[in-house]
Amino acid sequence: MSIKTRLVLIAVLGLVLAGAGFTLWSTLQRSGIVSQQGEPAGRALIGGAFTLTDQNGERRSEADLVGTYSLIYFGYTYCPDVCPTSLSAMTQGLDLLAESAPDKAAAVRPIFITIDPERDTTEAMAAYAQHFHPRLMALTGTPEEVALAAKVYRIYYQKVTEQGSSDYLMDHSSIIYLMGPDGGYLTHYTHASTADDIAKGLAEQVDPALAAGS
Ligand code: NI
Repeated sequence: MSIKTRLVLIAVLGLVLAGAGFTLWSTLQRSGIVSQQGEPAGRALIGGAFTLTDQNGERRSEADLVGTYSLIYFGYTYCPDVCPTSLSAMTQGLDLLAESAPDKAAAVRPIFITIDPERDTTEAMAAYAQHFHPRLMALTGTPEEVALAAKVYRIYYQKVTEQGSSDYLMDHSSIIYLMGPDGGYLTHYTHASTADDIAKGLAEQVDPALAAGS
């Protein structure tokens, strides 16, 4: 391709990245993760009541999160890149922690919640979850149940349909939440966080003595 074409492509890529960065920042601000001034907010109002179904067909709710730390990521199994990368970092971070502090790792449960209930059936979630971690809880539900769970966790998602195609992608927030054994928000990681970052973060945050049933 010509230099001109390349320059145009680079400019377009720059705009797309700037837009993505702004969207993430706005999402974080709306979530209360960062305040309008850019200072960390107090205990953010993230998390709350939900009812979903795990990959074994068991009904699950916020009560299942009490007594253990949770790493929670919202995404979808058809996601071409961001979700698999984030889920890998999340679960590999947990495995890294297990090598240095198995008691801490055992106190953390990884959870994946779909924002694409139309395609992500319990069967699809079961097949997908096994690629990542033996303890990964993969949750789906009716569109209404998923919408409610996403709302209480301040997750944005929207279907994006390509013109002339019946296929669609999901535009969505990509945040890994660490919730405490009381179900409350502790901190979060982004899709830029590596497995190492997450392992180190968990090593600092997790107190196995506070986790009951793990
Ligand atoms: Ni994704």
